[in-house]
Amino acid sequence: MNNRRDFLKSSAAVAAPLLVSARCFSADAPSNRINVAFIGTGNQGMGMLKRFLAADLGNVLAVCDVNEGSYGYKEPEHFYGRNPAKEMVETDNLRRSKSGTANKCDVYSDFRQVLQREDIDAVVVVVPDHWHRTITVMALEAGKDVYCEKPLTFSVADGRQMIEATRNNNRILQTGSQERSNPVSQFICEAAKAGRIGKLTRIVTKVGYNNKVGPGPGWDAMPVPKTLDYPTWLGPAPVAPYHDDRCLYRFRFNYDYSGGQITNFGAHCNDMAHWGMGIDTGGPVEVECLDAKFLPEGSLFNTATETRFRCKYVSGVELICESGPESVQTRFEGSDGWLQTGYKGTTASNPELLVGLPNKPTGTQDPHSAHLANFIECVKTRKEPRAPVEVGHSSAVLCHIANAMIRLFPETGPGRVAKWDAANETFVGDERANEMLVRQQRDPFSGG
Ligand SMILES: NC(=O)c1ccc[n+]([C@@H]2O[C@H](COP(=O)([O-])OP(=O)(O)OC[C@H]3O[C@@H](n4cnc5c(N)ncnc54)[C@H](O)[C@@H]3O)[C@@H](O)[C@H]2O)c1
Repeated sequence: MNNRRDFLKSSAAVAAPLLVSARCFSADAPSNRINVAFIGTGNQGMGMLKRFLAADLGNVLAVCDVNEGSYGYKEPEHFYGRNPAKEMVETDNLRRSKSGTANKCDVYSDFRQVLQREDIDAVVVVVPDHWHRTITVMALEAGKDVYCEKPLTFSVADGRQMIEATRNNNRILQTGSQERSNPVSQFICEAAKAGRIGKLTRIVTKVGYNNKVGPGPGWDAMPVPKTLDYPTWLGPAPVAPYHDDRCLYRFRFNYDYSGGQITNFGAHCNDMAHWGMGIDTGGPVEVECLDAKFLPEGSLFNTATETRFRCKYVSGVELICESGPESVQTRFEGSDGWLQTGYKGTTASNPELLVGLPNKPTGTQDPHSAHLANFIECVKTRKEPRAPVEVGHSSAVLCHIANAMIRLFPETGPGRVAKWDAANETFVGDERANEMLVRQQRDPFSGG
């Protein structure tokens, strides 16, 4: 073993990380810098790239996106894609350069070429959910450590494959659930877990309403932009006519690529619910959809616009998750009070419950940056990251089983209580609900 790269790839290093790491990783040695590539440089990818560079977490050798560069991501004026990402990295390289020449950042549209590179240690995967599993599993099998955005998976089955690929290849996988690196969320969830509000009885989580509007029934297809490799964007998803509102950022409102706000924001607040309950890798025993509203049949956006669902846990705790104006909020209710935190702030039934609450972190300490930093630290030390693959999987499973019941709601109405076997990840005696968990995907490389 000659260098740090060999060390990172060797499974022996995983077995004895401390002995070797002390020798290889002197504080600022150039060999201590991790080489990464960003796959998916859209709304979140560009934000993460910017943070990665600002915190100087490693070398960005490559960026990859099926979009060369275009306007029209989350907001019309947002210009993202692989070329703007390359420019961002090279501008930062130039700023840091002592010689006045900037290191190049390579640019790819096919992620498989990134994975072939021996010099890349880790990849940050920030593509739509329907691509998470394929890219992540191939990266893990190519010996890369992976930061994959939340929701970690598109289906329950995806998660099992991702766990297997992570563990069989002795890789680090960090789920992009950055609340795990937010000291405020840590304080609230750990306080709930430790019994600061007595016996936990109920958790109420909130997910935001749809923040975009898509075309209604009878919508016309649009020409595919020249900058976008649309067939690869679709990848494992069904073939479908192009529309701007199908792809960039808005994919989250279509079940072919994501799961609506239940998997988008729900991946955060419901992950925190599990965290506070102390069942990071568990699940409920019962799930019921209480309400679900959808746009008219034929609308491009087909995920629920408003929802309310309920889960019961073996401990007796009830989880209610509902749509609301708050994007992400988690409220823990116990026998001795309540604690609540979310994007809009943190409160409690009694100020004494918040004694010791840290300030909301800012700048390069913000939760996304801290979570990326935790990933890079774990790539170096081979320690478990704060949101390992099993945690990301379990939180996503909760969202997927809720969505199964939400999607059945128009068919069956209220009152359908499904029993969930968390150990075997299956609904008990409800084949229709189990059918809803199966997400048919195409082979993304068959060209069919
Ligand atoms: N942690 C958070 O708080 C947070 C916030 C926003 C988004 N996200 C997650 O990040 C992911 C991306 O969301 P977004 O809002 O950035 O979407 P986006 O549409 O703005 O960006 C996704 C990018 O991936 C590219 N892409 C698609 N398929 C690709 C492929 N096969 N290879 C390379 N590039 C490909 C697209 O062209 C696009 O540029 C989602 O899973 C989302 O849930 C997480």
